[in-house]
Amino acid sequence: MRILVTGGAGYIGSITSAELIRAGHEVIVIDNLYQGHRAAVPPEATFIQADLANRQELSEIFAAYPGIDGIMHFASYTLVGESMEKPMLYLRDNVTNAGNLLEVAIAAGVRRFILSSTANLFDQPERIPIAEHERIVPGSPYGESKFFIERMLHWMARIYGMRYACLRYFNACGDTPERGEDHDPETHLIPIVLQVALGQRPHVTIFGDDYPTRDGTCVRDYIHVLDLASAHILAMEALDRLGERRYNLGNGQGFTVREVIETARKVTGHPIPAVVGPRRPGDPAVLVASSETIRAELGWQPRFPDLESIIASAWEWHRTHPHGYDD
Ligand code: UFG
Repeated sequence: MRILVTGGAGYIGSITSAELIRAGHEVIVIDNLYQGHRAAVPPEATFIQADLANRQELSEIFAAYPGIDGIMHFASYTLVGESMEKPMLYLRDNVTNAGNLLEVAIAAGVRRFILSSTANLFDQPERIPIAEHERIVPGSPYGESKFFIERMLHWMARIYGMRYACLRYFNACGDTPERGEDHDPETHLIPIVLQVALGQRPHVTIFGDDYPTRDGTCVRDYIHVLDLASAHILAMEALDRLGERRYNLGNGQGFTVREVIETARKVTGHPIPAVVGPRRPGDPAVLVASSETIRAELGWQPRFPDLESIIASAWEWHRTHPHGYDD
């Protein structure tokens, strides 16, 4: 298939692009390089530096590359914390950019769409692990923006016959030998812990140890980025028989912040000093996914479910790329 990947220079988008190419698909990447890295885009992909805010330019891209079979939409502002400080980047820009993309795609006749969605739809889960029928309570303007785009897709399906899947990632992590996580600033737990192991930070701060969990720190469901990539490809290839789908994506097993740090100590052989700080506003105590639906419907199976191999893959990339893409 000829797949348009927005945000294909970013962490999950670039790794999924590489996996698409490995699976025999053709990839066209659009990225504004605001957070992405040119060097992350697979050399076999066509790269277009463009901003989804520019609808005219998007129309020209669709005209220049006819016959796009499907879209994977990764491009987005993605930080829960930032969204609490700059809500309009999310409520306006994320939503408007997705609207531009959908409008142009529909005009060009594209009817397959995979959305990067988020566990931040489930701020107050009543049941753990969290299934797709859990009540939606976005935890931030970030989560709200993704929920709004999910709803937009629903109406595009009803009105124009768009076929789509919303993939709600829990905690994406892990790297491949060629591509990895390189955010500026870095806010995610695993890369921060590995930066301590590399001597780039003196310690990691644990955001609160008074949560109602087994050791007082937050529990998350860490899922390898390659397992997210395989879910995207399976979903894209199955969309014609699926229609409209929402899938929660995790391993179904939760680890505390302390357990992540302990595992990283084991993997890296570094003591990784940790200090306890206050809670980070907006962090729910426990987020663990039930991915039974995608397992049952698409036969999806995570290949890297254990935390140690996830952190080992991230350590390999961070150790060999201590300054990320160095751009
Ligand atoms: N944490 C620390 N110290 C740090 C960084 C993180 O203790 O320096 C803790 C957080 O409080 C949280 C856990 O480590 O309990 C994981 O934090 P991350 O920032 O790595 O990830 P989040 O769970 O906050 O966010 C992830 C995705 C978001 C998504 C969200 C859903 O990155 O895109 O899950 O809740 F929206």
